[in-house]
Amino acid sequence: MGGGNCNPKDFGAAAYWDARYSSPSTGGKGGGGGGFFDWYQSYSALRPLLRACVPTSSQVLMLGCGNSLLSEDMVKDGYQNIVNIDISSVVIEQMKEKHTDIAQLTYMQLDVRDMSFFGDGSFDCIIDKGTLDAMMCGDDAPHGAYKMLAEVARLMRPGGIYMLITYGAPKERLTLLNQVRCHWEVELYIMRKFEMPSPHSEERAQVPFLPYYSIIT
Ligand SMILES: C[S@@+](CC[C@H](N)C(=O)[O-])C[C@H]1O[C@@H](n2cnc3c(N)ncnc32)[C@H](O)[C@@H]1O
Repeated sequence: MGGGNCNPKDFGAAAYWDARYSSPSTGGKGGGGGGFFDWYQSYSALRPLLRACVPTSSQVLMLGCGNSLLSEDMVKDGYQNIVNIDISSVVIEQMKEKHTDIAQLTYMQLDVRDMSFFGDGSFDCIIDKGTLDAMMCGDDAPHGAYKMLAEVARLMRPGGIYMLITYGAPKERLTLLNQVRCHWEVELYIMRKFEMPSPHSEERAQVPFLPYYSIIT
């Protein structure tokens, strides 16, 4: 995904994600039915940079959370406030139910292209693991991706961090980021391949290595 191999009708569409998260055949480790699935990387791989750059007291926004373990693992590690959003009402209901006892986690169904629910500068850190990539597969790409990034820029407090974990080529992603004209400082990390515990071999095959950006306003 994000590397030009995606079907535009799939990853950018809410209906695709609702079906995926509803389906028993992609349940458990594959994504739906109350299971979990972490795209690209797990918290343990991201932890060194997160802990170095993002204090545990930060207001964090998780874009396109899906049923990833990332937010849950961050809370276990001390993070105090993570707002999780996703366009799929199915996964948001599943995650609300799963984490009903974890006060540090909140969930809401929201489109990353319109996050007007939140005021300007609401977040210290915005994390995106695979969601810009999904947007780039949408029918309205790259316009939808631009709208999303403009919203990210609006929601970040001055000095905040947008952490983008992406499969996209650095040159392509930098072109998108530069379109927003926010004078972001960009740091790029190339991460080693993560062997996903997934039964879906085609997904495993699509992740040779991952560019990783930390963007600081
Ligand atoms: C590749 S998955 C990544 C899920 C999770 N972040 C992870 O790392 O495992 C992309 C997620 O973005 C969500 N998504 C796609 N388009 C979206 C949009 N316009 N607004 C909010 N979420 C969206 C999908 O429902 C899906 O959960």
